[in-house]
Amino acid sequence: MVVHPMRPLAVITGASSGIGEMFARKLAVDHDLLLVARNKERLEALAQEFGTRGARVAVMDADLSDAAQLKRVADRIEAESNLALLVNNAGFGSPGAFWETDVEVLDRMHRLHITALLRLSHAALRVMVPKNHGAIINVASVAAFARRPGSTSYSATKTWVAAFTEGLYVDLQAASSRVYVQALCPGYTYSAFHDVIKQDRSRLASPAMWLTAGKVVEVSLRGMRDGKLYVVPGWRYRLVVALLRASPFWLQTRLARVGAARVSQGASGAH
Ligand SMILES: NC(=O)c1ccc[n+]([C@@H]2O[C@H](COP(=O)([O-])OP(=O)(O)OC[C@H]3O[C@@H](n4cnc5c(N)ncnc54)[C@H](OP(=O)(O)O)[C@@H]3O)[C@@H](O)[C@H]2O)c1
Repeated sequence: MVVHPMRPLAVITGASSGIGEMFARKLAVDHDLLLVARNKERLEALAQEFGTRGARVAVMDADLSDAAQLKRVADRIEAESNLALLVNNAGFGSPGAFWETDVEVLDRMHRLHITALLRLSHAALRVMVPKNHGAIINVASVAAFARRPGSTSYSATKTWVAAFTEGLYVDLQAASSRVYVQALCPGYTYSAFHDVIKQDRSRLASPAMWLTAGKVVEVSLRGMRDGKLYVVPGWRYRLVVALLRASPFWLQTRLARVGAARVSQGASGAH
């Protein structure tokens, strides 16, 4: 029997698909993995695939918008002495005017994007800070910087992710900690995200604006090596974010209305 040496552990939420799966693929090369999502079959298939490449892979099927299941994952993270990286990636969109969207769906989104991210970061930092070692990547979005019709809750939760990560950065700096945090802000990315919410990608943006999950993860991991707080993959999106940050609110909202008019009625883009 071959016994592999212990590697640093990376925990990835939303690892069953898209950006999270790509993080798992890239990190499996030199990390052990704990993969979290609801789709157990898919997680187990990935664990089997990565296991043949020398990674120890554990899976937890958990709905992170459920308090009890979230606690189970947080407890597990806090017990992992080898924890090196947490990627808070699980998320979903919900296009449509705020008042027309099922409030239960919006509430679930807030629990997933905010409460889960808060509790899992807390659990991870309880391990990392005393060791003065480790990293957290929080997946926000370009939407964190924009207010667009049909994206009220999604944008607000992603703004929270960005602000929360900034806060952690400041807290860690004040404590002279070497623990690293990143707010990853992708734009439109090919994944299951837009299939889940039945959005036609061609109506949202031109092909040039679409990123691959591979590119997003590659730029994120490079940003981690370079110690960057904000990582925005792709020069087009870096330009978009710079313009959004420099624009007055009235101009942002006017441009957002023009953008939304391109999208079919009521299907404004979450990304
Ligand atoms: N794609 C884009 O254009 C884009 C752009 C900017 C930011 N983002 C962000 O990137 C992150 C990943 O999205 P993606 O594009 O990779 O989409 P995706 O392919 O749909 O992946 C979403 C992942 O989240 C998991 N998930 C959803 N609800 C969950 C829950 N309640 N509990 C646990 N896991 C849950 C899904 O797994 P299960 O269904 O198995 O639970 C899946 O693994 C999200 O935070 C998203 O907001 C995406």
